[in-house]
Amino acid sequence: MRFALCSSLILASIGLVSASSCRCRPEEPCWPAEKEWESLNRTTTGRLHTLRPVGAVCHGSSFNYRACNVTKEYQDSSIWRADHPAAVQYSNWEMWPEQNQSCYIDAKRSVPCGQGRVSLYTIEAESPHDIQAGVTFARKHNLRLAIRNTGHSYQGRSTAPESLQINTHLMKNKTLHKNFKPAGYDGKGTIEPLAVTLDAGVQLFDMYKFCGENGVMAVGGSSHGVGAAGGYIQGGGHSMLAGIAGMASDNALEFHVVVADGRHVIANEYQNSDLFWALRGGGGGTWGVVTSVTVRAFPDPPIVGFTFSGGGAFGSDSYWDAVEYLNAFLPEFNEAGGAMYYYLVPDYTVSGEQVSMFYAEGGFANHSDVAEVNKLMNPFIKKLGEITGSPFNYTASLTPKGTALFTTNFKGPDGGGIPVILGSRLITRDLLKSADGPKQVTDAVRSLKTIPGNTSIGYEGIQGLVTAGPQVWANSDVDSALHPIWRETQLHLIVARGWDVDTPFEEQQVIQNNLTQVEVPILKKLDPAPKGGAYLNEADAYDEDWKSTFWGPNYPRLRQIKQKWDPEGLFIVRTGVGSEDWDNEGLCRK
Ligand SMILES: Cc1cc2nc3c(=O)[nH]c(=O)nc-3n(C[C@H](O)[C@H](O)[C@H](O)COP(=O)(O)OP(=O)(O)OC[C@H]3O[C@@H](n4cnc5c(N)ncnc54)[C@H](O)[C@@H]3O)c2cc1C
Ligand SMILES: *[C@@H]1O[C@H](CO)[C@@H](O)[C@H](O)[C@H]1NC(C)=O
Ligand SMILES: *[C@@H]1O[C@H](CO)[C@@H](O)[C@H](O)[C@H]1NC(C)=O
Ligand SMILES: *[C@@H]1O[C@H](CO)[C@@H](O)[C@H](O)[C@H]1NC(C)=O
Ligand SMILES: *[C@@H]1O[C@H](CO)[C@@H](O)[C@H](O)[C@H]1NC(C)=O
Ligand SMILES: *[C@@H]1O[C@H](CO)[C@@H](O)[C@H](O)[C@H]1NC(C)=O
Ligand SMILES: *[C@@H]1O[C@H](CO)[C@@H](O)[C@H](O)[C@H]1NC(C)=O
Ligand SMILES: *[C@@H]1O[C@H](CO)[C@@H](O)[C@H](O)[C@H]1NC(C)=O
Ligand SMILES: *[C@@H]1O[C@H](CO)[C@@H](O)[C@H](O)[C@H]1NC(C)=O
Repeated sequence: MRFALCSSLILASIGLVSASSCRCRPEEPCWPAEKEWESLNRTTTGRLHTLRPVGAVCHGSSFNYRACNVTKEYQDSSIWRADHPAAVQYSNWEMWPEQNQSCYIDAKRSVPCGQGRVSLYTIEAESPHDIQAGVTFARKHNLRLAIRNTGHSYQGRSTAPESLQINTHLMKNKTLHKNFKPAGYDGKGTIEPLAVTLDAGVQLFDMYKFCGENGVMAVGGSSHGVGAAGGYIQGGGHSMLAGIAGMASDNALEFHVVVADGRHVIANEYQNSDLFWALRGGGGGTWGVVTSVTVRAFPDPPIVGFTFSGGGAFGSDSYWDAVEYLNAFLPEFNEAGGAMYYYLVPDYTVSGEQVSMFYAEGGFANHSDVAEVNKLMNPFIKKLGEITGSPFNYTASLTPKGTALFTTNFKGPDGGGIPVILGSRLITRDLLKSADGPKQVTDAVRSLKTIPGNTSIGYEGIQGLVTAGPQVWANSDVDSALHPIWRETQLHLIVARGWDVDTPFEEQQVIQNNLTQVEVPILKKLDPAPKGGAYLNEADAYDEDWKSTFWGPNYPRLRQIKQKWDPEGLFIVRTGVGSEDWDNEGLCRK
């Protein structure tokens, strides 16, 4: 007995020595014993589970015909992916090709299935108590911790190799408040009585549905499955509603968070206000595990929604002239209340014919007069057709209660299950309004490599998002971690790249390096000197200037707040605050 106690003390102290440089890894003596995992499982009333990649049933000795068949059927569904703690939306982040550990579902059966960046254990949390147990366990045992909600991160921030995962996806409660008062409210200052509290696992579709049932709206993105309380709002959160109501993070009233020391605290204007500042734009996975957020709500506004599409001869100058005309139209459009997502497909093949296409969807929030919108849009649409020589399609219609637009148009799964990486830049309204700004933006996009396709959403295409606008600019007095460049942004320009399941790692690296070293710098040239930035949730995962790219002048303060709330770096994500102290996977301190 004595001896056993003694040796475990020695092992514990060895664990402590390595704690200063690396996380505890599974083959090391510091790794929790079976008994300790069992104890964690009891504390979380059976919500601890081991994880294997979703593709495991399609490979090697774990091959199972039926299970693999089902997996293949569902692998493109973002709903199925969100529900699976071992999956994320973009499959490249389940892999760890640097360590030759991949498990693509569609790769040949004979290719072995490596664990990759898929966590080894998950706690499928149903309460703050479960989360506290996980945070405390990870801290005590010096484990790599991953916070996962829906797995929509484009930068692989919800997976981490050899980690314990806290999965928030099952926490779905929602509450409407007609008289919300932040905890600790001192009776001074204005408050927002109409609000909704969203638990950590609520997804946008669910939020819009709940809001619609209660006659209210909250700022959210145009996605079915993105989480409302996780990476989205903590990263800022752009929206078709932003032009009238500001960024999602501008509308946050209060967060409940399990912080690194295991406490469940409240962060708002009145208490832990430094944490509140950081949670609004400082990025997900960095400050603690948010268990719920309360956001401002407002009466469900009417929205005039629209779509348009058209194109021109393949690769023609007139096609790019039309794109330039579109970019030049954005200031007037956006300042009149319009929001838009446009997709460029310069090499589009439809029924055997190669053309250059673009299409767009969007809306005017808090507008109900379709004729007024048409008055602005019709001459623009007509001109696009004149430029390319073939008329554009355009439709507009009123949705009297705007939430219904989101529960119909964005009802379906988001798409996913493929490898995707992004590069992006926030383009200011000053640039778009300047004499040659629209041309500069168009030339930059035109110089990017064109990948043939018949669709572009999220995959190897160019997207232009007009999802900020007047109220985002007017909110420049909101003191939060959000990159101040948002207060001048009119267009969020995104380039998407990807590869196939059998693309060798060396070729994946060529695509990634070209994105980081050639393509994103083309977009960076559009910045106003010396400023400029990108949206931290939809950007290059390997941007070397990530601190200034994502936070500009706010980084030093974020760093200080991180030191205060998480001095040991329990919550580390790729290119997140504090990650500069760690290697790319958050496994060893530099
Ligand atoms: C199809 C699609 C559409 C999108 N549309 C929009 C849009 O319209 N507007 C927009 O702004 N963005 C949009 N995004 C980007 C989206 O906001 C980010 O991908 C966001 O990070 C997703 O957050 P999540 O919590 O759902 O995903 P996850 O991948 O599960 O988590 C993302 C990050 O947040 C952290 N995190 C999650 N939950 C918590 C929590 N409870 N506490 C602390 N940290 C947490 C994770 O650790 C990770 O770092 C879209 C993305 C996709 C894939
Ligand atoms: C945790 O307990 C549950 C319920 O008893 C069980 O199903 C599950 O397999 C356990 N998890 C682990 C990792 O052993
Ligand atoms: C799954 O099996 C069914 C028949 O059992 C078959 O029709 C279907 O094509 C299979 N799906 C895949 C993806 O293999
Ligand atoms: C590692 O790479 C080699 C060569 O590409 C391959 O044959 C092998 O199966 C891989 N192993 C794993 C576990 O993926
Ligand atoms: C969610 O709501 C249900 C029903 O109101 C309640 O029983 C449960 O405790 C709530 N869960 C959390 C985590 O608040
Ligand atoms: C919508 O417009 C009405 C006036 O038409 C205004 O009172 C209301 O504040 C607006 N709502 C938002 C969220 O801007
Ligand atoms: C316009 O709409 C029609 C009917 O839906 C469709 O057949 C056609 O392809 C569309 N044209 C363009 C340029 O999108
Ligand atoms: C790198 O990107 C540029 C711009 O998109 C492109 O022209 C070039 O072909 C790319 N190079 C490689 C090796 O992909
Ligand atoms: C688009 O291309 C993919 C793969 O090349 C193909 O599977 C799909 O059917 C095509 N869709 C249309 C509408 O042509």
